[in-house]
Amino acid sequence: MKSAGGSDDAKQRAGEAAAQTVESGMTVGLGTGSTAAYAIRALGEAVDDGLDIVGVPTSFGARELAIECGIPLAGLDEVDGIDVAIDGADQIVLDTGNCIKGGGAAHSREKLVAGAADELHIVVDPTKTAETLDHTVAVEMLPDAHPVVSEKIESLGGEVTLRRAANKDGPVVTDNGNLVCDADFGAIDDPESLATDLSRLPGVVDHGLFVGYVTAVSVGSEDGVSTTTY
Ligand code: 5RP
Repeated sequence: MKSAGGSDDAKQRAGEAAAQTVESGMTVGLGTGSTAAYAIRALGEAVDDGLDIVGVPTSFGARELAIECGIPLAGLDEVDGIDVAIDGADQIVLDTGNCIKGGGAAHSREKLVAGAADELHIVVDPTKTAETLDHTVAVEMLPDAHPVVSEKIESLGGEVTLRRAANKDGPVVTDNGNLVCDADFGAIDDPESLATDLSRLPGVVDHGLFVGYVTAVSVGSEDGVSTTTY
């Protein structure tokens, strides 16, 4: 589920700050969402000015935008590795870098790309920062696993809602042809153990808890950008 989010200026500053760290010769994971889109647009402009990169998109939407911006693309199975992935988040704890993603239902591929990358640079506006993770956790699951997975998540303490499509009857169907639910666990005191528990459930493709992936976070604001590295 998407949070309301902050100003476009703040998102743009964060996205552009991350794009500026990219150097010629790099393979770059291209994240999904409105903040990562600013990084993709900035990279597109830099490519026009001669930056030599290959992008690996994390979703249909990221791929569509990157093509529009003229960024050369490759699939994950066509590159040797990824130097840096730049992506947004729905909530992040700055002390640890642990975050929740999946507001755009792209978290499985986002995690795959982040896991293949040497660095994961998260870009957010200040409304996404929190002391403790308490945003709902997106869980992508095989379509017919929905009742079973929902019951198991409830036994882990989550209140489950199947994500419904806005302009289609029925549920959201991911880029991978699966369903997504949003699980409300309240304040998540031990993200690592919850991440492990969710990953173990048969039928779960992946969930939006990112624990131990983030190497940098840029928080854009009305005044500038603050970057924390891990
Ligand atoms: C998509 C995501 C997005 O990165 C996350 O929802 C943040 O998006 P936005 O920058 O539009 O708030 O995880 O699955």
